Amino acid sequence: MLKNNEISEILITEEEIKNKITELGKKISKDYKGKNLILVGILRGAVIFMADLARTISIPMVFDFIAISSYGAETKSSGVVRILKDLDVNIKGKDVLIVEDIVDTGLTLDYLLRMLKSRKPASIKVCTFLTKTARRKVNVKVDYSGFDIPNKFVVGYGLDYAGKYRNVPYVFTLNSKFIQE
Ligand code: IMP
Ligand code: MG
Repeated sequence: MLKNNEISEILITEEEIKNKITELGKKISKDYKGKNLILVGILRGAVIFMADLARTISIPMVFDFIAISSYGAETKSSGVVRILKDLDVNIKGKDVLIVEDIVDTGLTLDYLLRMLKSRKPASIKVCTFLTKTARRKVNVKVDYSGFDIPNKFVVGYGLDYAGKYRNVPYVFTLNSKFIQE
């Protein structure tokens, strides 16, 4: 699938991902028992994580997606967010769990949280596959997180570089030869 010199380092293996998601799913199922759980996945990065996570959740739930785009360079976040596709479901009175691929500076999530809170959900929390805590610029609360990773640009398992590598089932850093600055 990959050219053998494309990978610099594998950070998280398929097995580690599987085990972590099972753990998260159990916790979410327990915490949301008796509630009106709606998973809100952020397109496109969260799709792979959300598909696996949803299948580990053992309570009734629904899911929906929102597509946003941040202006600015490919590997940096500006915090200015544009909605490309809004939710189809009305979240008023629902227990929203935002599902994100990675929280980096936190700017994207901070914006999205403010926007969705104004629609008066019963509760709103965040579940992210990856987090780079050291890079945070705004203090957003991450309620569930898979892995806290160092300050490196990673791809795979939904995360992309220029649209590529989302289908790779593990998380890795790219050989710098494949990154255009
Ligand atoms: P934030 O606004 O800085 O938290 O950026 C969040 C978004 O930036 C994520 O949803 C990703 O789309 C993208 N992003 C941040 N870090 C990475 C990375 O290491 N690999 C791929 N995408 C990333
Ligand atoms: Mg994203």
